[in-house]
Amino acid sequence: MKFTVALLGFPKGILVDLPYLTNTKMKQPIIETERLIIREMRGSDAKGMFEMDSNPNVHRYLGNKPVKTLEESKKVIGYVQKQYEELGIGRWVMEEKATGKFLGWTGFKLNVEPVNGHTHFLDLGYRLLESEWGKGYASESAYACMDYICKHWDHDTIYGMAMTTNDASNKILHEKVGMHLVNTFDYDGDECYFYEIAKEDWLAKRK
Ligand SMILES: CC(C)(COP(=O)(O)OP(=O)(O)OC[C@H]1O[C@@H](n2cnc3c(N)ncnc32)[C@H](O)[C@@H]1OP(=O)(O)O)[C@@H](O)C(=O)NCCC(=O)NCCS
Repeated sequence: MKFTVALLGFPKGILVDLPYLTNTKMKQPIIETERLIIREMRGSDAKGMFEMDSNPNVHRYLGNKPVKTLEESKKVIGYVQKQYEELGIGRWVMEEKATGKFLGWTGFKLNVEPVNGHTHFLDLGYRLLESEWGKGYASESAYACMDYICKHWDHDTIYGMAMTTNDASNKILHEKVGMHLVNTFDYDGDECYFYEIAKEDWLAKRK
């Protein structure tokens, strides 16, 4: 799948050289796939985020704690934007290329607190409005995000996590992206799989 990357603030359609984006502290890339625009999370995404995260079905494999107010979703956006500033990266929004509609989020979190014995690691994740499930968007975004991160970040290994019962997510991480199972671990009382893939393995797979 082809994709292109542009910097925010540049006129639409002007693409810039990718090395400018390496570990940048503030600016997030714009990644274009066949059907998606993947971009920074903005305050204007609050309504879409609330629609997604207030749905108990979306949170079935995420600890069953859907948000209750728009304010909570605004706080989440602020938290992600703080990660952009402090860590250089955070989850990105997926919008439908044809319409600009908010679909959900995708991309990477730089985990600075220990999880399953790992610290300072990038994990790939995704979350969509329930109405958008089953259309291949999570897989499409995962491929583009992996291409981006392997070319523009220094981390040698990328990780992924999902509850053992989350079949869709496990299929994407394991079968589609090709991550290897590291172990099963307890995450706040939920049994989860922990996966990894070496950057070189992903790049070889994409050749
Ligand atoms: C997990 C999630 C992001 C998947 O998004 P999606 O866009 O529907 O996924 P895709 O369409 O790319 O599907 C990926 C694969 O999983 C399969 N799949 C999708 N839902 C499935 C399910 N409930 N059970 C088994 N397989 C499933 C698809 O058929 C597809 O495989 P295929 O291409 O061989 O047919 C989406 O269901 C979601 O937002 N869930 C709530 C949040 C969440 O659980 N996020 C992940 C946390 S680890």
